[in-house]
Amino acid sequence: MKKITLILSLLIVVLASCKQSKKTHAEAIPSQYVKEIHSYAQPNNAVIKHLNLAISVNFNEEIISGTASYDITNNNATILILDTKFLTIEKVEADGIATTFELGTFDEQLGQPLKISITKNTKKVTVHYKTTHKTEALQWLSPQQTADKKHPFLFTQGQAILTRTWIPIQDSPQIRITYNATVTVPKELMAVMSAENPKEKTANGIYHFTMKQPISPYLIALAVGDINYKPISNRTGVYAENSMLDKVHTEFSDMEKMVTAAENLYGTYAWEQFDVIVLPPSFPFGGMENPRLTFATPTVIAGDKSLTSLIAHELAHSWSGNLVTNATWEDFWLNEGFTVYFEMRIMEAIYGKERAEMLALIGRQDLEDELENFKDQPNDTKLKLDLTNRNPDDGMNSIAYDKGYLFLRTLEENVGREKFDAFLKSYFSAHAFSTMNTEKFIQYLNTHLLEKNNINFNTNEWVYEPGIPNNQVTIHSDKFKNILQTLHTFIENKEITNVTTSDWTPQEWVHFIRNFPDEMDLTHFKILDNTFNLTNSSNSYIAMVWYEQAIKHNYRENNIDANIEGFLTHVGRRWYVTTIFNAYKKSNKLDEALTIYKKTRANYHSVTVNTIDNLLGYTK
Ligand code: BES
Ligand code: ZN
Repeated sequence: MKKITLILSLLIVVLASCKQSKKTHAEAIPSQYVKEIHSYAQPNNAVIKHLNLAISVNFNEEIISGTASYDITNNNATILILDTKFLTIEKVEADGIATTFELGTFDEQLGQPLKISITKNTKKVTVHYKTTHKTEALQWLSPQQTADKKHPFLFTQGQAILTRTWIPIQDSPQIRITYNATVTVPKELMAVMSAENPKEKTANGIYHFTMKQPISPYLIALAVGDINYKPISNRTGVYAENSMLDKVHTEFSDMEKMVTAAENLYGTYAWEQFDVIVLPPSFPFGGMENPRLTFATPTVIAGDKSLTSLIAHELAHSWSGNLVTNATWEDFWLNEGFTVYFEMRIMEAIYGKERAEMLALIGRQDLEDELENFKDQPNDTKLKLDLTNRNPDDGMNSIAYDKGYLFLRTLEENVGREKFDAFLKSYFSAHAFSTMNTEKFIQYLNTHLLEKNNINFNTNEWVYEPGIPNNQVTIHSDKFKNILQTLHTFIENKEITNVTTSDWTPQEWVHFIRNFPDEMDLTHFKILDNTFNLTNSSNSYIAMVWYEQAIKHNYRENNIDANIEGFLTHVGRRWYVTTIFNAYKKSNKLDEALTIYKKTRANYHSVTVNTIDNLLGYTK
């Protein structure tokens, strides 16, 4: 017996050392990267592993300048290719010695490859650079655009391919790097990043950051402003401008509960700290899942915690997206579909099934609207996208989110929750800190869930075909059923009172408003507005859908036009802004939309500008 054990352990040692040597070998010759149409980098030849950033932020000139140094793994290449767009490259060094470099032809979507001469032995490359006024990632805000109106503000947005407009980088989601940064900012301001963060201002305006876990370049993020920190638990907290800090803290007080609920579902939170920074209202997204520090719009601060599913969503990305990352932007649904599913499960765990089902049904209606929008381009309703010659932003619509969700929800109901949860948990832990593409996921799903349980499932139809397969599950909400009943009665009787609606949640209001029938007339609008003052709703979501309907039905009382224009001046959240401008467009009011847009365009971040320029056919 002993002998066998001895032989066995010897064998294990031998095998392990084989594996070890293979691994070292594999590290020297990494050929694990798939073809990526949105990056010039050739990571199979030479790849960056660590970034050391030393930059200063100049608010007067609206420029970031400094150096980016990279530790590289080189597979005998004599050239290192980085992605850049709208950057000025001043000088490049290889292992401390000046080396030659060349900027390739400029492409509207991708920018320019920066080709740096290296030797087979080069370990470190340093690029001296600065940003330009054409940068797409950065938004420089005047004091007027902030909450406190005293100091300027800066934030970055990296996803999908914008990091290359503020850092020269191999800008593909399948690249993973650790990073350090030293950032110098004006003394009155604080800098925070998707990294270990300060909790107080420093005296000299110099901040040091470390991100010790490898992340994709689109998740490198920086915000600079007159902000403060307030903890919620020992691993969660919020950053915001002074006048917002307490409100934000109260609104997001369930953050620790959310992290605990998420961990109970799909395993330990991998990033130690989970903080949220609330940015000025021009931030183009609801939220962005920058690791350790989610960036969020102030439009979710409703005063009643009603819009905090956004935090659950960004938190969920700490698993789906940041831990297991879509390999290319054509696999975007792996990031967002899983995240919406996870978001709903967190919401259900904390606030119950009823609330989660209302959220899911709102998503189901978004999906229906998106299918209608894409009725002439059915290929864009596939989960796996074809983005050849397209900006990845073009593929980033509700399909990835809501069809992705419906697919996973349908899977869940077919295999049962227990098995599905065990599967998801193992999926996240087996692929932590690595990338995933659609094909690899389907294989994993087949082996670890479907075949194991003898289940036939039309996965390929869900993923590779347009539209929604017939086996989709139906989502029910009694509350929403009542809302439609109330709406119906109101249409008929033109009567509705505060009593009927007194316990409605904002989600019920949204459902009520979004389902106005075409035959709604202006008296209906007047009654609703006089009774509930919807034109002045302090809930941004309710206001947004009310404005959308008002535009479509040409309701113009109660000074609503000024309110809409005010909203569009103030808020740069792309989803809201797009919905409202699209309502003008669909109602043949393009001129009106353009008149407003000419005034508000300068307030928006580049991603919102790009979308609305396209939507309204705007040219400068
Ligand atoms: N990662 C996305 C934001 C994003 C998507 C940025 C595509 C750039 C390109 C983020 O997690 C997100 O989905 N935000 C949503 C909120 C969510 C609750 C659906 C948003 O901004 O509305
Ligand atoms: Zn998301």
